[in-house]
Order: sequence, then C-alpha cells, then structure tokens
Amino acid sequence: MTTPRITLNDNTSIPQFGLGVWQVDPGETERVVSEAFEVGYRHIDTAQMYGNEEGVGAAIKASGLGRDELYITTKLNNNRHEKAAAKASLRESLDKLGLEKVDLFLIHWPLPTQYDGDYVGTWETLVELQSEGLTTSIGVSNFQPEHLDAVIKATGVVPAVNQIEAHPYFTNDVARGNTLRAGSVVEAWSPLGQGGGELEDPAVLALAERYGKSPAQVLLRWAIDRGDIVFPKSTRKERLVENLDIFDFSLTSDDVASLVALDKGEAGRQGPNPDTFDWIPD
Ligand code: A2P
Repeated sequence: MTTPRITLNDNTSIPQFGLGVWQVDPGETERVVSEAFEVGYRHIDTAQMYGNEEGVGAAIKASGLGRDELYITTKLNNNRHEKAAAKASLRESLDKLGLEKVDLFLIHWPLPTQYDGDYVGTWETLVELQSEGLTTSIGVSNFQPEHLDAVIKATGVVPAVNQIEAHPYFTNDVARGNTLRAGSVVEAWSPLGQGGGELEDPAVLALAERYGKSPAQVLLRWAIDRGDIVFPKSTRKERLVENLDIFDFSLTSDDVASLVALDKGEAGRQGPNPDTFDWIPD
C-alpha cells in the first residue's frame, strides 16, 4: 500500500502519511515501528526529545527495507540549539538510527525566550547540516508566523515544512496560513486531538457514520484533504492498520468546512504555546 507523496520546496518528496512516535515508550518502540512497517508504513517521525531513536533504528535494521523505501524525520532537542551542540546532536541521532543521513531534520521548538531568542542562528546551523549532507531536507516545528518570517528573511531559505499542532478544535489557521503562504508544507501534529473530545464530537461521528469509517479515520482524512502531512501515534497494531486505511474515501469541501467550524481557537490548543514554551531538558 503506497500513500500519496507531497513535493517539498527543495524538490524532494515526502509521504503524506506516517507514524509519529511521540510518547511511545523507548522499550516498546522497536515493536511498534516494526509492526507499522509490517502493515505498510514507510514514514516515521521521531525526535531527539522522545528518547526512542534507538528503537526506531532497531526496527529499521530488522525490517530489511531499503533506505530509499523509508522516510525518517528527527528533531533537534531544546537543549542542543547552540551550533556545535546541534551539529553533534544530529551525528548522535544518525548513530542511534543507524543511518548515514535523515530525510528531514527539524528545529523542534523555536524557544524565543531562550538562547537570546536566536532561533535564526539555529536555522543557519540546519542550513549548514543540510549542505554537509547529514539531512536531505530541513524544516521547523511549532514556528509561529513571526518565527517563520524571521528565519526566511535572514537566510532566504524557506523551511521545507512547519510541523504545528492542528486538529478541528484547534485549526491553528494563522500559523497554518502563514506556513502555506511562505511555501512550506504543514505537518499537523496531534491530528486526533490528544483525547480532547474530537473523537466523540457529533459532527465527526456523523461523518464517520456517513462514510462507514471510524472517527479517527475521519479526522485523519480531514487533515489529508486539507493538504497536510499527518503521522498519528498508536502503539496498537489494530489501530496502526485502521489509521492507514484512509485512502479509499475522501471528504467533500463542505465536510471539511463542517469540521473547521469546530475550531475553539486558543481554548482548543492541547500542547504548549510556542511563544512562551521554554522548557530545556537536563
Ligand atoms: P494508543 O497508542 O493507545 O492507540 P495523536 O497522534 O493525535 O497525538 O493521538 C494519539 C492518541 O490517540 C494516542 O493516545 C493513541 O492511543 C490514540 N489513538 C491512535 N489511533 C487511534 C484510533 N484509531 N482510535 C482511537 N484512538 C487512537
């Protein structure tokens, strides 16, 4: 089963669907990723902060899949933003993943109140890492319009993607719209809303009933139909299969609009606000 691919602004392409391993226990990661590969996943989204890159690497090694069949993303940890640390961190990630280069490397959070607010400098480091051949594509995550605009203005290099929180209760349309206008692709994190209620929302249930699909499948299809990249997390094999089974139906533009209408603005946000998030692990 192949999933659609999206062409990025650097002329590479990325599978529009994959598996996210945020909150997958390191001890369980090899099993979960191996099961995902078995049922047809080829795109894995991990991060240094998740602590499970070794498990992803073990599953890649055990899979026997060719490097060119896989799409692997990791992200810079909040405690590694300085140039030398950032560069060393990607080499450590590559060791853990058992890869010579990743497909995509992201700044995980902009941290505008840390490092003297120098996320532009961090972006310059990612540009260097790309030219050194350690990552094919580079992008950002949780960048508000001000952050995205600043890195583009300073370097002229438009991030290939901006991975931001987006689901019907928090459509995040200001950051999303700015990302698309800049020429980046949106990766929507927490597409199932992290237990915030979308899976039981009457509008979602009505569409699920109409299309003979589950609420999770409706939410994932909504993101796909808006053109976003999604990688729902599940540790359960039956849900891995269910979440991938979304390419035999699509929503109408009215259906998409009916879910956009559920937006609660900031009240619907589940994760931290990138303007103030300043957590740096030890
Ligand atoms: P689990 O790992 O037990 O399956 P998100 O990717 O939006 O953060 O959502 C992940 C959460 O949604 C996890 O708690 C995951 O739990 C749950 N989940 C994943 N797939 C499904 C599904 N098909 N139906 C219901 N819940 C799901």
